Parts: sequence; structure tokens; C-alpha cells
Amino acid sequence: MPEQAALEADAPIVADFTRSIPPTPPIFRARLSASLSELAANPHLDMLVRTSASGGTPSDQEAGLKWLEPKLGDQIATGRMTVTNGTQGAVLLLLEALVGQNGLLLTEALSWGALREIGRRAHVRIKGLPIDDDGIIPDAFEAACRDLRPKALYCNPTDQNPTTAIMSETRRRQIAEIARHYGVAIIEDDALGRLHPGSPAPIASIAPDITWYVMGLTKCVAQGLRLAYVAGPSVADTQRVIGPAHKLSFWAPNPLTTAIATRWIGDGTAEEICTAIRHESKKREELASSLLSGADLVSKPGAMHVWLRLPPEQDRHQLVASLKDKGVAIRPAELFAVDDTPVPNAVRLSLSSPLDRSHVEQGLRIIAAALKL
Ligand SMILES: Cc1ncc(COP(=O)(O)O)c(C=O)c1O
Repeated sequence: MPEQAALEADAPIVADFTRSIPPTPPIFRARLSASLSELAANPHLDMLVRTSASGGTPSDQEAGLKWLEPKLGDQIATGRMTVTNGTQGAVLLLLEALVGQNGLLLTEALSWGALREIGRRAHVRIKGLPIDDDGIIPDAFEAACRDLRPKALYCNPTDQNPTTAIMSETRRRQIAEIARHYGVAIIEDDALGRLHPGSPAPIASIAPDITWYVMGLTKCVAQGLRLAYVAGPSVADTQRVIGPAHKLSFWAPNPLTTAIATRWIGDGTAEEICTAIRHESKKREELASSLLSGADLVSKPGAMHVWLRLPPEQDRHQLVASLKDKGVAIRPAELFAVDDTPVPNAVRLSLSSPLDRSHVEQGLRIIAAALKL
């Protein structure tokens, strides 16, 4: 199957390191075929696609709570958690509700590539905060809260996209404390959290009263089974924010996708797939750390992407262009900027999307040669 970058590049594609699609574990196809056959044999299949349940059916919600349990514990009240069609839609809704037109959203200075566009659609202003190896710098966050009166903070504390930072527990507590003091809501996107089971507890478990927790299945199960579970601070908050959207059919999670996800969470398949993705990500990250060992590589064990800081004499755009000619696609730092603040001289390599690990290795060898490592 041609990779996305092959459509844009003239050179034959060796490795597309631009997209963070999780690797497909060998067990995936067999599990999906079996589940589709079981669904096909279900005498109520036609009814399943005749109905759609906004926020998910009770069994979808039960599955969602089970999926969130390793991160949030088992005390999330029914009605506090809702099932959505994915993180992007959930964050759009949260920005509209929590930040509002022309309100200010703070976030990491470099963040998820989609955030700027989601913010534009929600008509919110976005300001990036300086980050270090531990994530958002508390003093900078506090100064912004005091001087700029933001409504919310969007953050990605575990395996931050793109810098791979994993916020320490101390830092999470500091950020939560400041946010609570200034009445700022936190939107915590834990897209990669299930792939890092040893990471500190989510901000949502430290400060559940002010945090909206979003965990999608795109990275830890499959991009095409995109659902996101959203847990608000309380049942009342969740219903106030999500309730009005229940009238919109596009908000109701796709019933076939949800049926598979619910089944897979219930019977352990989702966990099995997530473990296999974690295993493959670990192997790929080890390859990157070893083949690019002479470079200024920022990474974490098992990270699906790595952040490569370049020396001043290495122009990142030239590197992107020359690698593209050799069939290797990577993303320059600009694609992660949330505002017009200058970006560091760095690039992101998503190790996860090449179908085969051998392509990851070939691509990394080409990058190592380009950097004269
Ligand atoms: C930080 C972050 N959150 C969420 C997602 C996935 O969003 P969705 O659930 O809409 O597929 C991604 C995918 O690139 C991401 O990088």
C-alpha cells in the first residue's frame, strides 16, 4: 500500500516518518476478521446500524470506564464519562464550551499539529507556553494565568507530541495547583498514555475537579477505530458541556466502530493489541536511539515518535527536502507551532507509520547518513 508521502514525493518511498499511525500488530487482522464475522452473525445487526446512541450505549460507557481504569481508577461515576467519535471532535467541543469565542487557550509552545486548526474553528486564541524536558514551565504558566486570563490549558503530559516530554508528578501537581488557583480548566489529552503505563498519574487523577480527560483509541488500538473517551470534572459539568451536542447526529459515536471497541475492551483484545503496539514501538525507538546515537535525539523508551534537535549549521528545511529526494519523509518543527513564536531547529520523526520495521531501519540509516553520523 503506498504511504501518504509517496503521493507527494517523486522518489520511491522508503519510510514515511510524518504520520503517527500506530504499527499494526500481526494479530490485528485475525482479531478484526473474527469480530466482524461475529457481528455479521448477530441477528440484531441491522438494528445496531439503525440506531445511534449519543455518548454511547450503557455497555459502551462501561467499556470506556474499564479502558480508563488503569489511568483514572474505578471511581468515575456514570454520566461523567462519554464516548465520542475521536479526540479532534471532542477537543473542538471542549474549546467551544470552555474557552469560547475569542477566549484564550494556553498550551505547550509546540503541540499536536491539529490543535491550531481546531482552535481556529472554535474561534479561540491560542498562546504557546515555554517548555523544558519536563513539559510546561510552571512560572511561565503562572505568569500567563495572571497576566492574560486564559480560560483553559490544553496539554499532553505523557509523551508530548512532538517533544516526547513526560511531565513528572511534581510538575503535574504544580500545573494543577496554578490552574486551580486561577480558575483555568485543564484539557488533558492522553492519546499515548496507554502506551506508557509507567508514566505518572494523569493530571485528571490529581485534580479531577478542574480537568477534562480525553483518551482516544487512535494510537493505542487503531486509527480506523477512532473513538475517544472523555471524562469531565463531574456529572453535572459533563452533561452541561456535552449535553447540547447530543442533538447532533455527528456527535453520536459510530455504532459499528463502537461495537468493535466495546467488544475488544471487554474481552481483552484491545489490551492485547495495545501491548503489541507498545512492544513494536519499543523496538522501533531502540533502533532510532542506536542508529542516531551521535545526534541530539530527544526520546523516551517506547515512544512512537522522536524529536531530533539539529545543530545551527544544519538547516531543517534543507534536511527535510534532501531526505524527501531519498524517499524519507519527516516533519519540521513549524508543523507543531501553535502561534507565531519562532520554533527551535528540530524535526519530528514518527517511527510508527512505516508498515515494516525494516523500512524504519532503512529510513533511519538514510537520516544518519544525511547527518554524517
Ligand atoms: C496529541 C494527539 N492527540 C490525539 C490524536 C488523535 O486524535 P483522534 O482521536 O481525533 O484521531 C493525535 C494523533 O495524531 C495526537 O497526536
